[in-house]
Amino acid sequence: MPMPPRRPAAPKAPTLPYRKLAEGRDYWLLEGALPNALEVSARLYARPEEAWTWGLPRRAEMWPGMRSPNALTPEELAPLEAWVQKMTGAKRLWQPPSPDPSNADLSHNNAQLVGAADSGPRPHTDSRRLAQFAGVLYLTPRPLPRSGTSFYRLRMPGGGLSGNSCPANCYNLTEALGQSKMPLEAWQPDVVIANAFNRLIVYRADLVHSATGYFGKAHEEKRLTGLFFWRAD
Ligand SMILES: [Fe+2]
Repeated sequence: MPMPPRRPAAPKAPTLPYRKLAEGRDYWLLEGALPNALEVSARLYARPEEAWTWGLPRRAEMWPGMRSPNALTPEELAPLEAWVQKMTGAKRLWQPPSPDPSNADLSHNNAQLVGAADSGPRPHTDSRRLAQFAGVLYLTPRPLPRSGTSFYRLRMPGGGLSGNSCPANCYNLTEALGQSKMPLEAWQPDVVIANAFNRLIVYRADLVHSATGYFGKAHEEKRLTGLFFWRAD
């Protein structure tokens, strides 16, 4: 008797590795990060328009709002980097010399200013080529608390939850999942860190993360952060 034709196997839903996040191992928080945070915040909000580069939605970029380089002076940045080294055990923190053409510019030590209308959460991992650790310094004096940083797990089609990090053999989620943009509904917030003025969060850049949200309409009301990216060895 002839065998019935084999049905092609259903495509397997993509999965990601999961590790339960722990403060002190996967992410670190420093309160009161800068001794002169109000001064730094005022200085960055006061930068003229020509000091900023526009991202989404004005320009087709990977990132929202606008960015301005050299947010902190070397003197302001050095103690923060010393703390990152102490927390992560990194002997050396550095940035790769050239931008990764497959990803956004590295934007280490950039100020980023994003309003409520500019974007919402966009879960992603940072390219492994560019960073092992990323940092966000919240610099809006009176922020909306639910606008810090969230970490996410991938939702499975059946309702279960998959992982929260980029597989070690992939550079980014696009490579791991085979598609460049997953809808926000594909992600379940797992750990949500509140926005608090002068709090620095540093995290493993291969964890799925995003700004929890943005706020503000006028320039001086928008969500201001300092962004940092470190390779480490
Ligand atoms: Fe990121």
